[in-house]
Amino acid sequence: MNPESVERAKREAAKLAVKENLRDNVIIGVGSGSTIIYVVRELAALVAKNSWNITCIPTSYQAKKLIIDEGLPLGSLDQFPVLDLAIDGADEITSDLNVIKGGGGCLVQEKIVAESAKKLIIIADWQKNSSQLGEYWVQGVPVEIIPEAHIPLVQKLEKMGGKAKLRQGLAKIGPLITDNGNFILDVDFGKISDPEKLSSQLKVLTGVVDSGLFINMVNKAYIGEKNGLVKILSKQGYKS
Ligand code: 5RP
Repeated sequence: MNPESVERAKREAAKLAVKENLRDNVIIGVGSGSTIIYVVRELAALVAKNSWNITCIPTSYQAKKLIIDEGLPLGSLDQFPVLDLAIDGADEITSDLNVIKGGGGCLVQEKIVAESAKKLIIIADWQKNSSQLGEYWVQGVPVEIIPEAHIPLVQKLEKMGGKAKLRQGLAKIGPLITDNGNFILDVDFGKISDPEKLSSQLKVLTGVVDSGLFINMVNKAYIGEKNGLVKILSKQGYKS
């Protein structure tokens, strides 16, 4: 895949999402990942151009740094527990707007921010838009866990039909440690026929903090196409 057309798709999706959804005086959740970098740049440009007053709530350490580096006002959920909207990336998204997130390891804070927002908007390139979760994102569903629960959870997940792998740090020997001090298991369930059921099954396991399945949470998605255009997916009547 031509990396330039992927970057263009991410950039165009981000630009349109910001243009259509940002206005003065909003409290906005800022997601994590490489696509979100384009969002933050676009936010900074629009805010500077229009002298808008917005507050950005980060979903990760990376998001916090991006917000600060672009000179945007930083807030927290302690100050603003209800957000006007959140914009985030995805690892995979189906046309009914269910999503796998957590490829960058930030799923729990992302979900807390997303749930606090009146509207969740996803931006992604076309490759991630599949017809069934688990079709494109074959690394497995990211599941953030309390470290002590690692081995018991691997066994429980196996009984549920999932193959769990402890995510490793890149420039660190040993497991990746999340912004919350936890581990991540990438659990391969193959193609997921009932994501809502799987999400609930994962959520109740002791030691699981949360999973990267974002089910019935997304209002709108901006999908950057290979040709530079942007496709919009939206859910009628959900969290308008
Ligand atoms: C991080 C995430 C990201 O939103 C997801 O991995 C997409 O990242 P990118 O925009 O780099 O493809 O969930 O945990």
